[in-house]
Amino acid sequence: MFARRIAVIGTGYVGLTTGACLASLGHHVVCADVDVAKVERLRAGKVTILEPGLAELVAEGQAGGRLEFVVGAAAAVGDAEVVFLCVPTPMGQGGAADLAAVESVIAEVRTMLPVGSIVVNKSTVPVGTAARVSGLLKRKDVPVVSNPEFLREGTAVHDFLNPDRIVVGCDSQDAAERVAALYARLGAPTVLTDAASAEMVKYAANCFLAMKLSYVNAIAELCERLGADVADVTEGMGYDRRIGQSFLQPGPGWGGSCLPKDTQALLQVAAAVGYDFSLLQATIDTNAHQRQLIVAKIREAAGGRLRGSRIGLLGLAFKAGTNDLRDSPALAVAALLRAEGAELTGYDPGIAHEVDGVRVVSDAYEVAKDADTVVVLTEWPEFRGLDWSRIGELAAGSVVVDTRNHLDPDALRRCGLTWWGVGRGHLD
Ligand code: UGA
Repeated sequence: MFARRIAVIGTGYVGLTTGACLASLGHHVVCADVDVAKVERLRAGKVTILEPGLAELVAEGQAGGRLEFVVGAAAAVGDAEVVFLCVPTPMGQGGAADLAAVESVIAEVRTMLPVGSIVVNKSTVPVGTAARVSGLLKRKDVPVVSNPEFLREGTAVHDFLNPDRIVVGCDSQDAAERVAALYARLGAPTVLTDAASAEMVKYAANCFLAMKLSYVNAIAELCERLGADVADVTEGMGYDRRIGQSFLQPGPGWGGSCLPKDTQALLQVAAAVGYDFSLLQATIDTNAHQRQLIVAKIREAAGGRLRGSRIGLLGLAFKAGTNDLRDSPALAVAALLRAEGAELTGYDPGIAHEVDGVRVVSDAYEVAKDADTVVVLTEWPEFRGLDWSRIGELAAGSVVVDTRNHLDPDALRRCGLTWWGVGRGHLD
């Protein structure tokens, strides 16, 4: 029989997406969270995470009786065949992942897990965690499987249902196969391996993506200094199938809840086993430097000095399609601008609340009002469709700094504005 009884512990981005998508594949899923108010909201069908398709899948699962929400892990695991751990693993002391939440769930449920059930870890955890969780479980009959997720915020449901690959690691081949079978309907290539290798895949992949972006940002800076166009350079590179076209877009640096945390964590892991991972350190340093380069560009656009200048920020989230501000490059740039005395007004279609040091407004044009410089920090599609002549009339200055190369330089020029992108100096 294909349909399984599954418990998902944690209803954050990963947990809720995993629960709703597994229910949509036909499994019976019970999702647990310690936050009572959140569970009540979810029971009432209220999904507060901005994730296309997620609210619909939750509603479908609930209506079909395949998706339930309960308070506390203990209430979810009683008759589960597979228990997914989707709890936060934030950056702890010195950049290492903090496993307190994983440990407390294990302590809570260890004696309640049905004989022969499987614990699956979906959170990004250091290599060796599956073995550690096994040690904490002290249950020879309950194997621990590592099954990392590769979901991107903003396309999490799509990524779950159309995966490039499924990675399942366990020292028990049988448990790995049973977990892989949960995804059989998706028809994705599946890598069955040991637990440590599966845990490593996640870090190796995310750190590689971060490295690719830092490399592209460095190439963009060189293009700018040498009069080349990074858009053509990356297109030319990307046709090489060994490189690929995706993840080659320069910007204000990479951020979000995963890449910064995972690069730091792998650096720690490497140091702990005596390997000086200078390539990864340079990836992180290049990212910090990228923000400085962007600030220098904004300073120049504002006339050489930021103190007292008014800067209008379009976009605050770490990327388009999400309302997530965690480790947002936009906020990192904003903090640097503020440190130099700039006055900041910001607009983001997904953010209505206050943001430290930025006056958040609910209208893109208000950002432009009297701004010495308007800066695009997040690539929201709607920014392309703004009335740029109106922005030109409202702003005090005429330079638009487009840190995502998102706008059409010619369209802006026709509106009397000067477009400054990244790595496309010859177009300025
Ligand atoms: C990332 C990975 O892409 C997912 O595969 C992984 O599952 C996830 O982390 C995770 O570990 O949970 P996510 O953090 O949602 O996903 O964001 P990305 O789409 O990867 O973007 C990361 C950062 O890179 C953003 O700041 C984005 O704006 C930036 N970026 C991305 C660029 O500057 N240029 C690009 O071409 C692509």
